[in-house]
Amino acid sequence: MKIFIDSANLNDIEEALKRGFAEGITTNPSLLAKEPKSSFEAHIGKIIDLIKKYQPGIHLSVEVFSRDPKIILEQAQRFMKEFNYPQMSIKVQVGWDELETIKKLSAGGISVNCTACMNVTQAIMAARAGAKYISLFWGRIRDGGTDAAMSKERDAAMGKSALDKNDFDSFWVVRATRQIIDQDKINSEIIAGSMRGAVDVRDAGLAGAHIVTVPPKFFPDMISHFKTDQVVSQFLSDFEKWLS
Ligand code: E4P
Repeated sequence: MKIFIDSANLNDIEEALKRGFAEGITTNPSLLAKEPKSSFEAHIGKIIDLIKKYQPGIHLSVEVFSRDPKIILEQAQRFMKEFNYPQMSIKVQVGWDELETIKKLSAGGISVNCTACMNVTQAIMAARAGAKYISLFWGRIRDGGTDAAMSKERDAAMGKSALDKNDFDSFWVVRATRQIIDQDKINSEIIAGSMRGAVDVRDAGLAGAHIVTVPPKFFPDMISHFKTDQVVSQFLSDFEKWLS
């Protein structure tokens, strides 16, 4: 399991990159909108500068901000040219019309990260269309099963056999997608996103995600353990007693 940073915050990205464990960064329009107002190009440029400083050559996913296939194509081509960062993937949302765009971009040599996937069939169709990465939204998949405001949509999808209870079990969705990728030898990797805590990161890795992209606020929890603190304090105090 590789760990990516799911953020557009320059300080958080720098703090993670300098520690060396992260092998990529994923951004999205909502993450960018949390940052102080500036130009999109300038902000992504600053993220690329941090990558070059600390971990040259790692993955970067940048998302388009349109639903219009023509504009998605234009934006993807413009980002590739403008940012000139070869390890960049263009995030394109999953959808019927978007599949054609994913196919065109991939066939044109642009790496696509198909985002906002919630179930196995979306992920596999995107992969078959050429997406190098398929982003499955762990937390939102689980929310889909419990969100009271979505009960009508959920009942309708279940009523027409589009979804069943497994589709709201993130572990099941990631594991099943990985199983099909492996058995059919599909050349795509699963990025599990939408993490809600350190335990989700572990479980997504166990379920078979090739990559888990994590909001930086969870990194300190992922690296600490109360028993580690206890034993380190014990070692130091035993040693100090021995010295004195
Ligand atoms: C993944 O690439 C997305 O950025 C992401 O993890 C979104 O998750 P959330 O909006 O549910 O937190």
